[in-house]
Amino acid sequence: MNTSTLPSQEPDAGPLAELRIDGARLWNSLMEMARIGATDKGGICRLALTELDGQGRDLVCEWARALNCDIRIDAIGNIFMRRAGARDDLPPVMTGSHIDTQPTGGKFDGNYGVLAGIEVLRTLRDNNIQTEAPIEVVAWTNEEGSRFVPVMMGSGVFAGAFTLEHALQQRDREGISVAQALKDIGYAGKQPDGPVAVRAYFEAHIEQGPILEARDKTIGVVQAALGQRWYDVTLQGMEAHAGPTPMDLRRDALLSASKIIQAVNSIALKHGPHGRGTVGWIDNFPNSRNVIPGRVKLTVDLRAADDTTLTAMDTALRELCRSEQAESGVEIGLEQVVYFPPQAFDGQLVARIEACADELALSAMPIVSGAGHDAVYLARVAPAAMIFVPCKDGISHNEIEDARPEHLEAGCNVLLHAMLRTAGVATAEQAKEDA
Ligand code: GLV
Ligand code: MN
Ligand code: MN
Repeated sequence: MNTSTLPSQEPDAGPLAELRIDGARLWNSLMEMARIGATDKGGICRLALTELDGQGRDLVCEWARALNCDIRIDAIGNIFMRRAGARDDLPPVMTGSHIDTQPTGGKFDGNYGVLAGIEVLRTLRDNNIQTEAPIEVVAWTNEEGSRFVPVMMGSGVFAGAFTLEHALQQRDREGISVAQALKDIGYAGKQPDGPVAVRAYFEAHIEQGPILEARDKTIGVVQAALGQRWYDVTLQGMEAHAGPTPMDLRRDALLSASKIIQAVNSIALKHGPHGRGTVGWIDNFPNSRNVIPGRVKLTVDLRAADDTTLTAMDTALRELCRSEQAESGVEIGLEQVVYFPPQAFDGQLVARIEACADELALSAMPIVSGAGHDAVYLARVAPAAMIFVPCKDGISHNEIEDARPEHLEAGCNVLLHAMLRTAGVATAEQAKEDA
């Protein structure tokens, strides 16, 4: 895949320094999107490639069509919404994120990045600005990894992190494949004939953690994202009667699972400050009050800021599973289903985001992303960087996730200016006349 080199001279904002997005319009679009899959607690349940995801996609496409964008859907269902540039042969400057959510997701995770991109396009249209390079807004398929694994699926296929075939054959817990789900909602598109070059990729996102709010900063200039390893763990013991079976003659799969859950927490604590360890899903069989559990399935999510630490955490988890199996007689199978190393973002784009925040008189600080994002995979094939804004109490992956309109507006203004500088401005008649 081709990547483009950015001009070495840092451009300034020039006559467009005063240009701003429309914060109210961005907020209204977020609220309109939040109606699709709205939950009683004020969140969203819009799992990847469900009918609701299809409705969300239709709405984004409708907005892009109203802006005269070309819309292209690839074979994994990524939606590319393109605004032509004066030099349409140049690789596009891209921005985007995802509109799928967690089962108990919020209104802003992912949605903000896609709708901030749409708001940038609307601002360019309103001000008759033609960029040199084309601009593309992308809604990536299945970023969340909740219904289908791997996580960051659409951007992973785009960047060649895994194959299209691998992604298409993944199944949800009901046995429905990604290929089938894409067809069902009408978003099984076509792969481009050759590699797609990207001049630069930006992604705006809520922080999903508490740091910006605690430090009273509006913009997080994201330096890097933690690496991740995800596993499916199966524990096979023996179901038996809870009464007649003495304690020392049991093979209790749930008891072994509880030791793994404790150990995952300890492993992460031992690898601070950036080590993370979570067991977020568990299935206990037969889940009956007076039956010793015979089979447990659970997921493990490990994260770290450097690959050596992530490897050490992986080794510790494998050793724990081996010793627990030997001690308990419960068979423990561990399958790694996601791995990506920590990812640093592009130095020049990171500096550009910092400069734009500064020129917009916004308070900013460097930050590391604990979450995975589509930008992590895009960074493998293009210069990439991210803009974070605070979210209330740092809470995300929760229906009560919240963010302040003025912060979302500020992040989108940084996105606008960073993209304009990277794409270059060919003409800006209205803006110049108004200035
Ligand atoms: C993506 O949402 C992640 O789990 O980091
Ligand atoms: Mn997200
Ligand atoms: Mn998420």
